[in-house]
Amino acid sequence: MIRVLGANPAMDRTHTIDSLVLGEVNRVHLTKSFAGGKGLDVARTLRHLGVSVAAYGFLGGEIGRSIRATCLAAGIEDKHTEICDETRVCNIYIENNEKRFTVINEQGPNVTLKEQEQLVQTLLADVEDGDFVVLSGSVPKGVPSNFYGEIIRALEGKEVFTIVDATGNLLKDAIEAKPWMIKPNIHEFKEVYPNVTSESKLFEQLESVIENGVSNVVVTLGERGCLATNRESAFYVRVPKVESVNPIASGDTFVGGFIAKYGATGDFKTSVRYASACAVANAMNLMPEIPNNLDLNGLAESTMVEIAG
Ligand SMILES: Nc1ncnc2c1ncn2[C@@H]1O[C@H](COP(=O)(O)OP(=O)(O)O)[C@@H](O)[C@H]1O
Ligand SMILES: [Mg+2]
Repeated sequence: MIRVLGANPAMDRTHTIDSLVLGEVNRVHLTKSFAGGKGLDVARTLRHLGVSVAAYGFLGGEIGRSIRATCLAAGIEDKHTEICDETRVCNIYIENNEKRFTVINEQGPNVTLKEQEQLVQTLLADVEDGDFVVLSGSVPKGVPSNFYGEIIRALEGKEVFTIVDATGNLLKDAIEAKPWMIKPNIHEFKEVYPNVTSESKLFEQLESVIENGVSNVVVTLGERGCLATNRESAFYVRVPKVESVNPIASGDTFVGGFIAKYGATGDFKTSVRYASACAVANAMNLMPEIPNNLDLNGLAESTMVEIAG
């Protein structure tokens, strides 16, 4: 089973508008709501690709209920922990004239220690050997930055594929817990390792992360593709040049696509190429999802693999 923990889910409302004018009343053309937050973006990608997935996280209030309903409709197994506080709404404005995105994130709920313990207990009780456990995105207020790291430590000894896509101290602590894979973007990677000021230092750092026990590291590079490394290989996957319409959630789509392919093939390189195709497809689409009727295998074939280092 694939289990995705996105500790900080949100209802994402994506609006299209000609131009956003500050200090005035603005009217949008179109609004589409998605159960969002990085974990649910990963879960939606997996469902789009026909893979079963269970979602964990904290949900509360009216927005929380509404996210549960969208999980149900999308066929995502809802394993969220109910909290007292209200789940957040994030508004994303896409300006047609400016070709610009503005994201306004609400602060989000406060999560008590008891609620945190409840989530961890639910997840740990469910996990079985062979599962993927994805730890994705920020944590809400009240949740410490070792939250993902502690879950990885608690899973030690089980044959579980843990994947971390997070930032700052949350990522740093998770790396120390030796997950199976991490997938930061290059900015997030450099934030944890400010010593990475050149390509040679980047390779040195990647080697050291792998030496210290992370089996696979994928650093995504936006329109330049990604750099994937493990003990056996280090390679870039270059993606075809496309018109990027809305790249928000591309990294999450990458993680979903990777797991779908790795679960089916067990092959790292094939899975990184397929993940890249899924991420490109998301960037080409106005709404944060893979468009229907797109040949993802064909798109994966059109990526270029370049040996790195
Ligand atoms: N402008 C773009 N054109 C084509 N592909 C893109 C573009 N932006 C992102 N992608 C795809 O999405 C992946 C993740 O993007 P990136 O911006 O690095 O991650 P994140 O969304 O986590 O910040 C990239 O490796 C690439 O495959
Ligand atoms: Mg990301």
